[in-house]
Amino acid sequence: MTTTLALGAEIMPRIDDLAAISESPDGLTRQYLTPEHRRANDLVGRWMGDAGMTVRQDAVGNIVGRYEGTSQGLPAVIIGSHLDTVVMAGKFDGMLGVVTGIACVGELNRQARRLPFAVEVVGFADEEGVRFQSTYLGSRAMAGRFEPELLARRGTDGVSLAEAMTAFGLDPARIGDAARQAEDVLAYLELHIEQGPVLESQDLPVGVVTAISGATRLVVELTGEAGHAGTVPMSLRRDSLAAAAECVLAVERVCSETPNLVGTVGWIDANPGATNVIPGAVCFAVDLRATEDSRRTLALGEITALFESAATRRGIAIDIDKVHEAASVPCDTRLSGIIAGAIERNGWRAHRLPSGAGHDAAAMADLAPVGMIFVRCEGGVSHNPAESITAADAEAGARVLLQVLNDFGENS
Ligand code: GLV
Ligand code: MN
Ligand code: MN
Repeated sequence: MTTTLALGAEIMPRIDDLAAISESPDGLTRQYLTPEHRRANDLVGRWMGDAGMTVRQDAVGNIVGRYEGTSQGLPAVIIGSHLDTVVMAGKFDGMLGVVTGIACVGELNRQARRLPFAVEVVGFADEEGVRFQSTYLGSRAMAGRFEPELLARRGTDGVSLAEAMTAFGLDPARIGDAARQAEDVLAYLELHIEQGPVLESQDLPVGVVTAISGATRLVVELTGEAGHAGTVPMSLRRDSLAAAAECVLAVERVCSETPNLVGTVGWIDANPGATNVIPGAVCFAVDLRATEDSRRTLALGEITALFESAATRRGIAIDIDKVHEAASVPCDTRLSGIIAGAIERNGWRAHRLPSGAGHDAAAMADLAPVGMIFVRCEGGVSHNPAESITAADAEAGARVLLQVLNDFGENS
């Protein structure tokens, strides 16, 4: 398939346009069900329309564009990634996959080319799960796996998911309408920056993802006793932040001792939070990932036992809440073969690698076979404002994705 235009040149300015939609002026933060979520959906919806797609926002807040195939109403290949971000995010994580999907459909449209299936592009509403400690809310709803009990969960701002949906103009009672039927979806494809250093070390712009690591998230509450920092002797304190420090180091130790396991405490809140007050209550979040589920499960048992013993020894109450769990998900071998072939046809070696990061593809695997393309990012840096890729690599990713659509048509 020949392209008429440098797609990388279309993709890069759009990434900047999306990065300008942020909750904070000093960096990119865009959470689920915020005014910025709406603005991002509006902008992406306009691009989808310009690329020849019909556009709708679904019941969970995903923005969905559809480009019909050789006849109306054919089952679709869905291309997707997310439009929400972490706090102080990079601008390519998630957005690159959505913008590239639109660029590919725009190219088909310019060529007046219809495939033997529909192509849909989805900007998923909540993959990072920053606001509700959730992850994959958008793609889980589309896969028919939304858990209604999550509606009562309160976000970091104290607003429940149900309340936030209503304020956004969505009806929490109709969230099931976002679910798609398996017979309407032939495959799910996601292009994403690698977020690690492997492709760069291989001197390759793109790669084939073999599997997505499983993950567990915990929220841990430690309750000791607040007190005067000058008067309470060290031996009589019940300092919940000191207990939390032990827990953080336990995560680091267990994960360092186990191959292919990573663990992070990326958020902690100490109360009441004053220099001269012994911290009475601490809340922190743990993120554990492994390519093998059994390793993650074993480590989880070890880590929670260490947390409990640290708390007991210090006379501190502990509550451990598992707020997220996702098994590791293999990518479909047939789709991975088509992606590898598309990479080779474009003149690169098809390097295969697992993903340590989570992706909407992991949730969409409950609905359809999934395949993922990784694009090299500078220094492997991600979840960081310094996240960067070149226009040439964006172009490489777009060409491979377009080729995959072409080859999927020929192979189906
Ligand atoms: C998403 O970026 C995740 O892996 O946390
Ligand atoms: Mn991310
Ligand atoms: Mn992502």
